Amino acid sequence: MSFRTIDESPLPVVLVGAGGFGRQWLAMLLAADKNMVELRGVADLDLEAARAAAPPGLPVGSDPVELARRTGAKALINVTVPAAHHPVTTAALFAGLPVLGEKPLAESVSQALSLRAAAELTGELFMVSQSRRRNPQLARLRALVDGLGRIGTVTTTFARSERFGGFRDRMAQPLLVDMAIHAFDAARYLLGADPVSVWCQSWNPPWSWFDGDANAVAVFEMTGGTRYVYNGTWCSPGEITSWNGAWRISGEHGTALWDGHDEPLLPGNAPDDPYGGIEASLHAFVEALRTGEPPSGEVHENLMSLAMVEAAVLSAERGFPVRLEDVLTAARDRAVTEEVRPDVRRRLMAG
Ligand SMILES: NC(=O)c1ccc[n+]([C@@H]2O[C@H](COP(=O)([O-])OP(=O)(O)OC[C@H]3O[C@@H](n4cnc5c(N)ncnc54)[C@H](O)[C@@H]3O)[C@@H](O)[C@H]2O)c1
Repeated sequence: MSFRTIDESPLPVVLVGAGGFGRQWLAMLLAADKNMVELRGVADLDLEAARAAAPPGLPVGSDPVELARRTGAKALINVTVPAAHHPVTTAALFAGLPVLGEKPLAESVSQALSLRAAAELTGELFMVSQSRRRNPQLARLRALVDGLGRIGTVTTTFARSERFGGFRDRMAQPLLVDMAIHAFDAARYLLGADPVSVWCQSWNPPWSWFDGDANAVAVFEMTGGTRYVYNGTWCSPGEITSWNGAWRISGEHGTALWDGHDEPLLPGNAPDDPYGGIEASLHAFVEALRTGEPPSGEVHENLMSLAMVEAAVLSAERGFPVRLEDVLTAARDRAVTEEVRPDVRRRLMAG
């Protein structure tokens, strides 16, 4: 997928979303390499939140596109709640602004398909910051996996005990929708494979402080036949795993382990990347706009990670395995009936 390049150093940007994670982006943007990026303003529906977060003198606004126009910004960083990803990113792309958006790509696969169509129609880059994929240890784990021959099973155990407050406490699927996407995306990256089907169960343990299901187990069949097994919980006091979870990759010629925090076991030769996390996403976005080379996380590439989440949720609700192909077909049928621009609808209907 080609997109419009921008050869401007530093890249002037507006940050949208001044909530918990938006403030982490803000701190990173203010400390980032001044030749890479220049923060021109902070937008939030809640203007007071934008004012409270922004350093004195930095312009703020409630309309991201208007703020970008007013300040001369050339790109948006979208760190709003998942429900706002679709409207905020659509408006930006059609205003000629490339977008680096927080995960998840959108709230649903149908919205993701319409954002993909919007990126194609406008020729603007839309990249998802799937920041945990950019962990340099994960790159080294992948180099190890490449040496294991054919892979039988990949497992992730994720066990934390987190009290967030806010939107996560009220979600129907706080683990699958808000967190498991990182592991699902990392599994696709490790295996260089896409999901074919999933069987998933989710439930809420009696002591859970979440409204929705805090626990889930999912088994994915990946292209090539490898099974990816995810076992996660938000409500597991004691012996917690790292935020990346604990990984085991069983292959034809051996096994690789990663606790998600320390170096993966067995020596690997992956190149060292000086960046990690959200700064690595920012770096990849700016580089892509300069070179025109599609980055990992570009909307076409990221879509299947969100599809894994939606398929797992469907399987958990229905109690039987779900094929990814069926999820994509249903999402496309839904997308054309949803609130989208007529040109986006025509693009979706054209396939
Ligand atoms: N990559 C990671 O590790 C990671 C970690 C935490 C959060 N996130 C993601 O970051 C995003 C934000 O999470 P958060 O914890 O900061 O949420 P939050 O609820 O703390 O903040 C979201 C902010 O978005 C604002 N907002 C909502 N709709 C808007 C709109 N239409 N226009 C402008 N502003 C709008 C809200 O007013 C709020 O200030 C989510 O997508 C979340 O999944 C990613």
